[in-house]
Amino acid sequence: MQNTLTIFFIGDVVGKPGMEVLRRLLPGLLLRYRVDFCLANGENAEGGKGMSSKLFEEMRGLGVDVITGGNHTLYRDKIIPVIEETPRLLRPFNYPPGTPGYGSGVFDLKLGDKVAVLNLQGRAFMPLADCPFRTGRSEIEKLAENTKCIIVDFHAEATAEKMAFARFVDGRCSAVLGTHTHVQTADEAILPGGTAYISDVGMTGAHSGVIGLHTESALNRFLHTWQGGHTSMAADDLRLSAVLLDIEPQSGKALHIERLQISL
Ligand SMILES: [Fe+2]
Ligand SMILES: [Fe+2]
Repeated sequence: MQNTLTIFFIGDVVGKPGMEVLRRLLPGLLLRYRVDFCLANGENAEGGKGMSSKLFEEMRGLGVDVITGGNHTLYRDKIIPVIEETPRLLRPFNYPPGTPGYGSGVFDLKLGDKVAVLNLQGRAFMPLADCPFRTGRSEIEKLAENTKCIIVDFHAEATAEKMAFARFVDGRCSAVLGTHTHVQTADEAILPGGTAYISDVGMTGAHSGVIGLHTESALNRFLHTWQGGHTSMAADDLRLSAVLLDIEPQSGKALHIERLQISL
């Protein structure tokens, strides 16, 4: 067992620009920070919506241990066999019983440590899902029987919902990391019980448009309530958004959280 686990969590990887950022930056960053376990939210990796088996394999090959998800993870039917097969590609845990795939998993590290990952989806301004507070906290209790090092990706729109959940589980898990808005927040902190928190890790991809979309394509939604039959991705100002965590594995408490936004 190690004294400290270094965990790297990458915010929503959006489309081809997001994958290009991962290809060019991730291998070097994993070495530089001596990362023990790497996570990335991949709900927008395939064309801005959803995930593919090819991109799942590519992300794994680049060093991502677990890919978390959100409201777009199940957008493409072809991902269903992959998501049913492995908890290394998660969808939100608080989906109704019978939904394909896993919402949590426990993963073994090389030196004997274990890391648990739980993916939840919020309900404020989001598609319907079961209560993330009650289902989330009871799943954290179950995961804690295996390891105290538990990382939660809370995929949600509303800052207050993410913050309230973090307070609700403070001291019961190592980190509650917000995803989905694609805008990195500057509120990273370690809460009194030892849980690391950030309202949103931000986006990995092109920042020149509107949360990953080309500006014109995004504007059509607001000006005409219509996207013209297709959405096109932004292409410039490529950045990787992430947080780096140090966790004390015996207690599961976070020792440090650092927010990163790295331009290509
Ligand atoms: Fe997203
Ligand atoms: Fe999302």
